[in-house]
Amino acid sequence: MSAAPPPPPASPARAAVLCGLAGWLPPILVTNEDLSRRLDTSDTWIRTRTGIGRRHFAEPGQATSDLAVEAGRRALRSAGVGEVDAVVVATTTPDRLCPATAPLVAGRLGLTGAAAFDISAVCTGFVYGLASAAGLITAGVAERVLLIGADTYSTIVDPRDRTNAIIFGDGAGAVVLRAGRADEQGAVGHFDLGSDGAGEELIMVAAGGSRQRSTPGPVSPQERYFSMCGKQVYRHAVTRMTASARATLTLADRKVDEIDHFVPHQANLRILRTVADELGLPPERLVTNVESVGNTGAASIPLALADAATRTTLQPGERVLITAFGGGLTWGSCLLTWPALSRTDHPYTIGGTQQS
Ligand code: UT7
Repeated sequence: MSAAPPPPPASPARAAVLCGLAGWLPPILVTNEDLSRRLDTSDTWIRTRTGIGRRHFAEPGQATSDLAVEAGRRALRSAGVGEVDAVVVATTTPDRLCPATAPLVAGRLGLTGAAAFDISAVCTGFVYGLASAAGLITAGVAERVLLIGADTYSTIVDPRDRTNAIIFGDGAGAVVLRAGRADEQGAVGHFDLGSDGAGEELIMVAAGGSRQRSTPGPVSPQERYFSMCGKQVYRHAVTRMTASARATLTLADRKVDEIDHFVPHQANLRILRTVADELGLPPERLVTNVESVGNTGAASIPLALADAATRTTLQPGERVLITAFGGGLTWGSCLLTWPALSRTDHPYTIGGTQQS
């Protein structure tokens, strides 16, 4: 009697696959020396406390959508696609309170008709956006999604606030995701996402929303600026990013030594080194570009990826763990494998000049 034929192998699950990447920085370069000429600070203080050496600011009149369009256009070109089903923009600095920035960006990219919405998760916005974009694809709602992380913190940080003015920079980074299989290079894998609203006041812009608008009385100019309780945020950032990265590894059933590159939100070099150390990751697996761009909010992870990809640090098939922490409080991580993107496919550009 012949044995029953073995069942066919289960086909790999539908997954979102990274297929395009680009970064864009606005043209105004602001060095630590530039800041120390107008603020009571120094290059030594900034480098020692944050690891930041310079950052880019939007030009007068330039808004988040302008940066997002530049990064988005390059990411579409990198992916070799002209159309997507959805455009997601992660930002803390939308062009306006209403409407969202994504439909405008989609329209300017010739993508009118695509679904378009914003993600508001402060510096965790890119990871939340990645989970949302991947969800659209795995649910069969979209075949291709353009996700852009873009922020112009120079428009909300008080230029006289020496603690925050030295940290933040402007920029945009974008990825294109397509429908594929979970076993492909570029597959976007397991996620860990979380929040704790009890920490709302640690990072905020107090005025401009419904709370302030429904409250009688004048608004002080200070309430219109970004505020952050740096020391407390620092401690939360280390704890939450470490725990979230660990939770993602557990979900994916991976050990830390199976991670080839760790790409955290570029908040502060001391935070990134501490998190990598707590995770037991060798320093050479930590990807950073905070020295040259500062903290660019929702743009920081795609900009760090674009920078590392341009330098060929990331090789196809390697495992990349991304982790972010931001206002809300919010945090999140994602494990992915790196896709085969050709070097020229993902330019890391500053005001139109490709960086090498
Ligand atoms: O992206 C979202 C998540 N954000 C973050 O992860 C940011 C987390 N926090 C940080 O990165 C750090 O807390 C900061 C960089 C914001 C501040 O560094 P710190 O080591 O925590 O400094 P501090 O606020 O405790 O200030 C130490 C001293 C103070 O002076 P006194 O009170 O000791 O006399 C500050 O007034 O440094 C002073 N200070 C400065 N001195 C020179 C604060 N800012 C500056 C400055 N230049 N720019």
